[in-house]
Order: sequence, then structure tokens, then C-alpha cells
Amino acid sequence: MTAVPLVEARDLVKTYGSRRQHAVRAVNGVTLKLMRGETLGLAGESGCGKSTLGRLLLGLEAADSGSVDFNGSPLAPAGTAEWRRSRARMQMVFQDPLSALDRLLPIATQVREPLVIHKFGSQAQMDERVADLLNAVGLTAAQGRRLPGELSGGQRQRAVLARALATSPDLLVCDEPTSALDMLVQAQVLDLFAEIQSASGVAILFISHDLRALRRVSDRVAVMYLGSIVEEGPARQVLEAPRHPYTQALISSVPGVHGLNPHRILLGGEPPSPTQRRPGCAFHPRCASAVQACGQTVPAFRPASSPSHRVACHLLPTGGTPAAIARTVA
Ligand SMILES: Nc1ncnc2c1ncn2[C@@H]1O[C@H](COP(=O)(O)OP(=O)(O)OP(=O)(O)O)[C@@H](O)[C@H]1O
Ligand SMILES: [Mg+2]
Repeated sequence: MTAVPLVEARDLVKTYGSRRQHAVRAVNGVTLKLMRGETLGLAGESGCGKSTLGRLLLGLEAADSGSVDFNGSPLAPAGTAEWRRSRARMQMVFQDPLSALDRLLPIATQVREPLVIHKFGSQAQMDERVADLLNAVGLTAAQGRRLPGELSGGQRQRAVLARALATSPDLLVCDEPTSALDMLVQAQVLDLFAEIQSASGVAILFISHDLRALRRVSDRVAVMYLGSIVEEGPARQVLEAPRHPYTQALISSVPGVHGLNPHRILLGGEPPSPTQRRPGCAFHPRCASAVQACGQTVPAFRPASSPSHRVACHLLPTGGTPAAIARTVA
């Protein structure tokens, strides 16, 4: 028997703006699954729709069309009592911990808040749970008594994570949770995410434009371009042997310790406009390998190096990387 995915999104579409020529198709037909205990990394350049997709999966915004199932049942409409109950099972962690915390309340009080809201138990049980949560994210009891402004950025993000984990959620949607931190603290917080994930079994959608961060925490990686997922699969296969020309360009642009990769793939054409869509593959105007079909029809997802590694690209023949693309990989 195949396991029921924790989250299953089918053909999600979200458009902002009503006037046709200015309408932004932020999410354009996304289908994805997230299994229990798995970390799915979501990559893609700024404005490609990552945060919007995260909000749709949690029901924080309603999709124009498509569906989201949580634990095998359709997600209840936002604002309903049923949705509020399911919200205890799914939490969000944002980039800026300071704006996510109340500056006037001690950290421990804020970690306790969800326990009070969701009627966790007696005062003593809540005290114990708060102490365990602070300990799990590497904060001391003394740090728990401080105000957010009295902690470092990394410690604040740990506090936000402790609060998000308070109700033992099944799903965490983390939107650029380490982007505001310096490199060293970022590495520590990323390791913490991995530890928490394996200890608690929570599933994580980890949104980041930082591919090195994704490599550190993800089991699978999905790459978005202009509202659509163009490549998806096991993290190693996608990040070490990318098949979509866009993923290849993204990966080649990651700077190493010695600066920019001299062999990075420079994208031609205009940066994508979410309001002016062209027919065919959304990436074709910037793709050095594009052929006629790329400007005519939207490519379907097809298996690449393994059945679970899938790519939406006309240039991918069954079972291999096209020579035109292979030449561009540094
Ligand atoms: N509330 C909104 N109203 C109008 N347009 C929006 C809204 N939210 C997002 N958009 C637009 O939808 C598109 C996708 O935005 P989104 O924030 O999901 O991108 P992102 O991939 O998270 O970007 P970033 O990496 O910069 O956070 C963008 O063109 C953005 O301007
Ligand atoms: Mg975003």
C-alpha cells in the first residue's frame, strides 16, 4: 500500500490583480507532494512564486483553482474552525524573526502562547514543554527570560522555531528562514533544522534561493521558474546533476569560496515578466538551447535520471541529457 502524502497539491493557480494586462500569474499550475518527515527544498529566483506557493499550501491564501489535500483530506477553507484546528498541525517560519516576535514579551512567554491557545495541558505541563522546546533549539532558560531585542538574530530564529514546534506540527513551511543570518550562524541554524527534522519527524517545505542552504537540509528539491516547477527530484540528483537548463544556470551561478564560478552560465534574454507570458516553455526566451518546439508548447514533466527525478523540458530525450545541454554544464 502506498503511503498517503502529508501534503498533496494539484494544479494550483494563483493570480494577483484583476486587470488582464497587469495580472500576475504568481503560481501557474503547480502539482507537488510532500511526504511525512521529508524536507522538500524549493528554489528559484526572486519573484518566481515560492512564498505564494507556501501560503497556498497552508491555506493562508486561497488558490484561484487547483486543490490542496492535507493528510488525505481537502484543506478546509481559511478562517473556518476546521482550518484553525488544522493550523496547529502546520506552522510557518519567516525570514525576519524580529517581526515574527512580540518585542515586549519574553521569549518563553511567546513559546508558551501556542500551547495556551491549543489547550496543551496544565501549567506544570506547559512549563515543562517550554523548557524542552528551548532546550531542543539550543536556548538556555535564562535566554528564554529575555526579550527578543536582547538576543542575537540566530538566537531569535531559534526562538521562532521553538514556538513553531510547540504544538508538534506535522508540517513546517520555512520561508527563507536563514537568509537574514550571517554565514556561520546560518550553518548552525541549518544544522538545527536537520536535527529537529530527524528528531521530530516534522515535514518541512524549506523555501530558499540559497542552493547551498537547500543542499544542507533537503531530501528533495523542486526548482520554480515563473510560477511553475521545472525540475524536481532527490536533492543530490537535482543539485549535482541538474537536467533543466534553468537549474543548470542557477547552480552554476552559486559563488564558491573563491568568488563567482568562471564557468557560470549567463542567461540571455530579458528577466521574466510574470505579467507578459509567452506561449511555450516559460524559460525558452532565455534558454541558449531552445528549439522551435520550446516556443510553441508547454513541456510536460518527464522522468530524467530516475523515475523520481522529473524535468519539464523539450530537450530531454527519454533516458539522457541532450548534448546541447551537457556542453553548458561547468
Ligand atoms: N499580495 C500580492 N499582490 C500582488 N502581487 C503579488 C502579491 N504577492 C506576490 N505578488 C507577486 O507574485 C509574484 C510571486 O511573488 P512571491 O513573493 O511568491 O515570489 P518569491 O519567489 O517568494 O520571491 P522572493 O524570493 O523575492 O521572496 C511576484 O511577481 C510578486 O510581485
Ligand atoms: Mg518569497
